[in-house]
Amino acid sequence: MSELIQIGSPNQRPRQPRPEDLKLQFSEQGVKELEALLTHYPTKKACILPALWLAQREYDGYLSGDAIAEVAHRLERSYAEVEGVATFYSLYNTAHKPGLHKIEICTCLCCHINGAWNLRDRLVEKLGIHHGETTEDGLFTLEEVECLNSCDRAPCMQVGSQYYGPLTEESLDDLIETLRNTKESTVVQYSNDIVQVQLRKGEA
Ligand code: FES
Repeated sequence: MSELIQIGSPNQRPRQPRPEDLKLQFSEQGVKELEALLTHYPTKKACILPALWLAQREYDGYLSGDAIAEVAHRLERSYAEVEGVATFYSLYNTAHKPGLHKIEICTCLCCHINGAWNLRDRLVEKLGIHHGETTEDGLFTLEEVECLNSCDRAPCMQVGSQYYGPLTEESLDDLIETLRNTKESTVVQYSNDIVQVQLRKGEA
C-alpha cells in the first residue's frame, strides 16, 4: 500500500465526539474573533473556512474531532458538513496532530530538477520520518507537497508562514537546527496569521 493511501486512510479521519461529550474549548479571544469573522460573511455556512483556521489555532494546530464538532456547534452546521470541508483541504491538519513545525518540501518539476529529491531524502535521513509522519519528540512533521508557486526559488519548502529557497544541503541543515531551537509552534502561528488576515480583510 502506498504512503499516500495510508495517509488518506479512514482510520485517520477525525472522530466525532458524542453530543454529550462536546466540550467547547475556544478561548475568550477565540470566541470574540469568531464573532468578528461572522460579521464579514452573509451566512454562518460561508464562515466555515475561516472558523476552521481559528479552530486549528485554538486546538494547537490540529483539527481533531472535538475541534470540528466545536466549529459545527458554533456555526450551527452538521458535523459531517464541517468535517467534509476540513478533510478536503490539505492545509488543515486532520489526519493526526502535527509536530511543532510542519516541513512542506516541494518535489514538483522545477524543484525536482533543482535537486528537491536529494533534499527530501536528506530530511528523511536527518529526521528519521517519511511523508506524513511526525518525529517521536513531536518537533517535526514532514510532508512532500506539490508546487508551492515559488518556482523562482526552487528548490524550496514552506514551514508555517515562511518560504525557504533556493535551498542547499547546508542551508537545509541550518534551518533544521534553527527550528529545533524554536519552541513556538510555526503550525499554530501560521493558523493565527491567516485568522488575522481574515479579520483585517473585513475592516477594509
Ligand atoms: S515546482 Fe516547487 S515551487 Fe513550483
